[in-house]
Amino acid sequence: MARKPLIAGNWKMYKTKDDALAFIYAVNVEVPDRDLVESVICAPAIFLRDLVKREGENLRIGAQNMHYAEEGAFTGEISAAMLKSYGVDYVVIGHSERRAYFNETDETVNLKVLTAVKESITPIICVGESLETREEGTTDRFVKAQVIKAYRNLSSEDALKTVIAYEPIWAIGTGRTATPEQANETIQGIRLVIQELYGDDVASQLRILYGGSVNTKNVESLLSMSDIDGALVGGASLDPKSYLTLVRAALK
Ligand code: 13P
Repeated sequence: MARKPLIAGNWKMYKTKDDALAFIYAVNVEVPDRDLVESVICAPAIFLRDLVKREGENLRIGAQNMHYAEEGAFTGEISAAMLKSYGVDYVVIGHSERRAYFNETDETVNLKVLTAVKESITPIICVGESLETREEGTTDRFVKAQVIKAYRNLSSEDALKTVIAYEPIWAIGTGRTATPEQANETIQGIRLVIQELYGDDVASQLRILYGGSVNTKNVESLLSMSDIDGALVGGASLDPKSYLTLVRAALK
């Protein structure tokens, strides 16, 4: 069974309410059929309610983070059940910016993945190495360890409900994209780890995205690679036209 492409925009901390709504009105009717490509926008939490209310047939809304606890005294945090109760279907987990600035660790990533799956929210699990690690030549080992820790205690049935995004830190927001070959090679390594953990079936079905300076010019060459099943896109997902170009590229 072929893996359905997934193009997820990660808006990070950009846009205000009016910009967010204008985006949804502009793209909603234009996004391709959901049977062909999964189009997702991961928005700041405060926009989620307004966006989910307006999402059309083919667009889905995701969050950028959540807490791992079911509920509790965690001021300022949002639970998976809260997201679910507003109709949010995806959540980015373990983005390198959260790992770098908000104390996200492999352990909290794992707990969040377990909670998201339990609430039937698809976690988009981010992994990726620093420039230092890439230059040392230890990327595969580093990313493998991140994947193993993220999937701790997850059954193969639940692993199938997840998505991985390989985002090399040195390619995020820098304009320096991994070459399609580099990205594909690391993603093949990730698929091998999934195969070791869960076997051939899960490894061949689980979707692995690439992220890091994806734009309208490089998206097609990245998506043409054997193991790249979509993209997690920051800057180029903010503009409706650009976002639509990205999702349409996944149809080719
Ligand atoms: P850019 O596409 O802006 O490089 O960001 C990538 C990213 O971090 C998506 O999560």
